[in-house]
Amino acid sequence: MEKIEWKDDFYVGIHQLDQEHKMIVNSANNVLAQKKDLINSTFPPDYISTFFNEVLVHFENEEKLMLETSYPGYQDHLDQHGFYRNRIAQKLLNAVWGKEESYKELVAFLHDWLNDHIVTEDKKLASFLKDKHIN
Ligand SMILES: [Fe+2]
Ligand SMILES: [Fe+2]
Repeated sequence: MEKIEWKDDFYVGIHQLDQEHKMIVNSANNVLAQKKDLINSTFPPDYISTFFNEVLVHFENEEKLMLETSYPGYQDHLDQHGFYRNRIAQKLLNAVWGKEESYKELVAFLHDWLNDHIVTEDKKLASFLKDKHIN
């Protein structure tokens, strides 16, 4: 299935992060919904930069929170963001240039990213923040 369904397991319990994750899922679905347009375009359409900017801002917000609270898992989490930042950009551009097969890869990648990173690394960060009474 192409659409990414929001599920309760995505809630990390920190309001700002939950709101941003929801926005990202919405924008990701917006990108995926443009399949025909996307694989027929020759340059990245606007909804791609909108989505990618939301991801960048969200990663920066989490990184800022980690620094402000001296989060012990900062480096690992930062490395994961670095990895995803590069791969998301690459997969988005591949979908524009690479057509059908790359679109399928993009779908799979977005699903994996949201299912893996939010429910592991982001939840670890969220429980640390909750222990510090930040919500
Ligand atoms: Fe994160
Ligand atoms: Fe996140």
